[in-house]
Amino acid sequence: MIKKAIFPVGGLGTRFLPATKAMPKEMLPVVDKPLIQYAVEEAAAAGIEEFIFVTGRNKSAIENHFDHSFELEEALCAKGKDTALKTVRDMIHQPGTVFYVRQQEPAGLGHAVWCARHLINDEPVAVLLADDLIFGSTCMAEMVAAYKGGNMVAVMDVPKSDTGSYGIVTPGSDDGQIVDVSGLVEKPEPANAQSTIGVVGRYIIEPGVFTHLANQDRGASNEVQLTDALARQIGKAPFKGLRFSGERFDCGTKIGFLQASIAFAMSRDELAGPLHHWLANRFPNS
Ligand code: G1P
Repeated sequence: MIKKAIFPVGGLGTRFLPATKAMPKEMLPVVDKPLIQYAVEEAAAAGIEEFIFVTGRNKSAIENHFDHSFELEEALCAKGKDTALKTVRDMIHQPGTVFYVRQQEPAGLGHAVWCARHLINDEPVAVLLADDLIFGSTCMAEMVAAYKGGNMVAVMDVPKSDTGSYGIVTPGSDDGQIVDVSGLVEKPEPANAQSTIGVVGRYIIEPGVFTHLANQDRGASNEVQLTDALARQIGKAPFKGLRFSGERFDCGTKIGFLQASIAFAMSRDELAGPLHHWLANRFPNS
């Protein structure tokens, strides 16, 4: 039912300067894979067949990453490095299923999604933010399985002090896994937050959302917010939040990125032992 996904990758990544001066933040690797590839693989595992990247200036590394590198493949082939060759070949998608559209100004997440409108028909579409890295589950696949129409966001409980970093849900009925969204506000101060149920960067949006995005109304941070367009559809289309299984790392922050790097490394057989050993010796009192 959901065959297309939008990946907004136009952000400047200022929190990771100077690393992101000439390199897209979505190309930062967690262990040995760029953030954007985790998101793309999650989408593919959820049955997505068309991948739409909303890019900006300085993002050509992303296009190159998802394309053949003939010199590299030839060199790997000549050296008999079959595993590495398979790794770089397996990540190439079917011709004609990857699209790039430029967001000409950083006018917000809602604006980025709206830039993809001509690639979407009258159909629900997934949106994945690569900054939010999910460990231990396939969040989008859980959403697709639970989706029954309308809009859906992945949600998790966040500390009260952090509501100003998330879209915050006003909950209706809640069975512990699926919560009815009866209100949604972008980044409210803790004192004004209606709950501590925060939106994680995974969405399924229906076409009605694009009609609101088209108005280009500015919201929090003077940006066009996807949150606001979703909120305007409440009452017109069903809106659910899904508490996904697995753990979310906010790789848009340095601490989240470091935690993700350690969690993913510790899940790899060849790294877990040596890393654990080194940490225990290097930081014996921690
Ligand atoms: C975006 C959304 C916000 C959501 C968050 C999840 O904010 O606008 O509603 O809770 O992603 O990571 P950003 O972190 O891009 O500022």
